[in-house]
Amino acid sequence: MTSSLSNRKIVVGVTGGIAAYKTAELVRLLVKAGAEVHVVLTEGGAHFVTAVTFQALSGNPVWTDAWDARMDNNMAHIDLTRGADAVLVAPASADFMSKLAHGMANDLLSTLCLARDCPLLIAPAMNRQMWENPATQRNVRLLRDDGIALLGPDAGDQACGEVGNGRMLEPEDIFEGLVAFLSPKLLAGRRVLMTAGPTFEAIDPVRGITNISSGKMGYALAQACARAGAEVLLVSGPVALDTPYGVSRIDVHSASQMHQAVMHHVAAHDIFIGVAAVADYRPVEVATDKIKKTGAEMSVALTRNPDILAGVAALPSPPFCVGFAAESRALDEYAEGKRVAKKLQLVVGNLVQDGMGGDDNRVTLYDAAGRHPLPAASKIEVAQGIVEHLARMLPARAPH
Ligand code: C5P
Repeated sequence: MTSSLSNRKIVVGVTGGIAAYKTAELVRLLVKAGAEVHVVLTEGGAHFVTAVTFQALSGNPVWTDAWDARMDNNMAHIDLTRGADAVLVAPASADFMSKLAHGMANDLLSTLCLARDCPLLIAPAMNRQMWENPATQRNVRLLRDDGIALLGPDAGDQACGEVGNGRMLEPEDIFEGLVAFLSPKLLAGRRVLMTAGPTFEAIDPVRGITNISSGKMGYALAQACARAGAEVLLVSGPVALDTPYGVSRIDVHSASQMHQAVMHHVAAHDIFIGVAAVADYRPVEVATDKIKKTGAEMSVALTRNPDILAGVAALPSPPFCVGFAAESRALDEYAEGKRVAKKLQLVVGNLVQDGMGGDDNRVTLYDAAGRHPLPAASKIEVAQGIVEHLARMLPARAPH
């Protein structure tokens, strides 16, 4: 499996805005993901970050001037986008958006955008008044109508000291927006509900029992589903992970809360994926005060938690149900056993020693047709493999 950007040619345009310093990091992320990056700076962009920075990061010559004689045929505006997978302008200033909206071509970047034969994405960045100005909003509508994709902007602190809409998205989110844009839309129009992470079952205000789960596999799968065009709602136990770009998240602690959230939302979804390491038992009673140590031993009475996944699969009209089985031995037997017992269409099995806590994983998929091992890879690549298999299994959608 390869990274989603390997061998992709991306032209990055940088216009005049202080957010241009973050584009250096964006270029680094793109190059790290295997993309071939060519940077084009406007005159304004070059005031903020020099060509040397972008040349060092991209490993390619940087272009600013429409009259640059380095291109043999003097046609940088044509040659740069030929064979490119996308042009990504970040930051896109109010002035540049206005030029784009009106088809102007009076510098290299605007000419190249007009002459391109590939998709164009822009990450706007400007002061909040400039963003909210009716002229900018009119341009946003024109750009959208022309099929140009907008990534952001975000709301928050601005370099000018004001707070509001117009901040450029963080480089990681722009990167993810581009990857999602270029990903095959295998789950377009699908609504995916997922659980991930551990659950925490309180004993008293400061203690509890939990399972070891970093949440990384579930979060990677949520990200892969979003990249594939699904609407994703993630019900998450306590983890130290950022919500993937384009994913909605509900935070819960206990299995009971997770169960409640899932049952509340499940009817509106056509796929349910249970990745969470749900605690099988919870204390019968939660002490309101901290329990003091007294005798040499203590015991806590436990009661069974509901099986969320089995409960969803047993609904009168259940969604397509996917489960996970993390086992320390006899993976085939236990994973296939869970698929049949819980009435699931697909189970993703892994040996705990292959995946727990780390960034890589090795999984085998189990469905009615048999077992399908996937190659060991990073969790996001494994997640993409799961999405591809899942998409092939889904019933065709009824025409609208
Ligand atoms: O714990 P077990 O190995 O049975 O987990 C298999 C699958 O069932 C996992 O996908 C897990 O998220 C789900 N599960 C659940 N609720 C439970 C226990 C497990 O949804 N109480």
